[in-house]
Amino acid sequence: MKKPDSDRPAGFSTRAIHEGYDPASHHGSINPPVYLNATYSFDSIAQGQQRFSGETPGYIYARVGNPTQSVLEERLASLEGGEAAVAVASGMGAITALLWSFVQSGDEIIADKTLYGCTFAFMGEGLSHFGVKVFFVDLTEPDALEAAITPATRFVFFETPTNPNMRVIDIVQVSQLAHAHNARVIVDNTYGTPYLQRPLEYGADFVVHSMTKYLSGHGDLIAGAIIGGADDMLSVRSVGLKHMTGAVLSPFDSFLLLRGIKTLELRMVRHCESALALARQIESHPVVESVYYPGLESHPQYSLACQQMSAFGGMIALELSGGYEAGVRFMDAVQLAQRAVSLGDAETLVQHPASMTHNNYTEEEREVHDISLGLVRISVGLENIEDLSADILQALDQATG
Ligand SMILES: Cc1ncc(COP(=O)(O)O)c(C=O)c1O
Repeated sequence: MKKPDSDRPAGFSTRAIHEGYDPASHHGSINPPVYLNATYSFDSIAQGQQRFSGETPGYIYARVGNPTQSVLEERLASLEGGEAAVAVASGMGAITALLWSFVQSGDEIIADKTLYGCTFAFMGEGLSHFGVKVFFVDLTEPDALEAAITPATRFVFFETPTNPNMRVIDIVQVSQLAHAHNARVIVDNTYGTPYLQRPLEYGADFVVHSMTKYLSGHGDLIAGAIIGGADDMLSVRSVGLKHMTGAVLSPFDSFLLLRGIKTLELRMVRHCESALALARQIESHPVVESVYYPGLESHPQYSLACQQMSAFGGMIALELSGGYEAGVRFMDAVQLAQRAVSLGDAETLVQHPASMTHNNYTEEEREVHDISLGLVRISVGLENIEDLSADILQALDQATG
């Protein structure tokens, strides 16, 4: 990326638009070309041997890397402040490729008690088939981490803010505690995005993303990413991606992500403004028992959120009085907002974890993990706030029953 005053680091959007790509090397094409190929030819067998042994860099086969994907990876590493990144086919692909690269039977993982449903299933059920033990603790409580950590703990894993109930976890505090016990820290930064929060700068070792969400921003693909140290990312590419999951991202989806990321800052500013305005409006509605939005002074970790996030994101969780039935009435009443899972799109999306994403939890699990029956999640989109708040307020009126 060329820029006139090379001493000043380029700003976030400048990097989101230019990092890792020089049009001059591609016939002046402003957009990176989409390399639609599965394999790469070698000039000679000597060159092939050197690439396979890792002696010289270069492409071999598109399950391991592709030039369009490489531009995306360089851009992601720059935005998260990491040495390197690996882009993969889904957020679940990112979490599994990272852990399969490093964990062994007998290892332990400590995860926060609130996780995206499929991450919970992978941690709680999937890993246990292979002798890896996962302990779910409340990572907002440092004593709980201290009590659970053992010499066998390899990783501490959490989301912040958490999906779906918006708890905020102290990245600096958890990282210091984990490192004191030789465990490494993985933060799922899907909700935060690198525009609002950069966990590696606070001491985390790895960031994972579901790029399906804000990084894409348009709800038109499924993708994931892992960002961390260069040597670790080599292991993730050659073990987690190449051997263990094969979760390769398509070149065309890499292109769409590069396009989406160009407007990440602009979109996040709007998501954050609208979410804060909406959270304030609905806080006083009679059917709303609580609003969980880290930008509200009433949020239990408001001051922590102010320290580690530059703004508070586009996700709101609310607790409706009237439990499961109130949640269902609210969901059925929305008109502009879409009843759908996923998040981070231009369209406002609403979901009811107890009947949708977390319906595989037992009643006891829902209680332990703080997923109540009346919890509703709103992914605040980019529509005009007047239209959006009119829709949500009329749906809350109808939820009253
Ligand atoms: C916080 C979080 N992490 C990971 C995932 C999994 O991502 P994907 O659906 O791209 O596999 C999701 C999906 O909703 C999520 O919300």
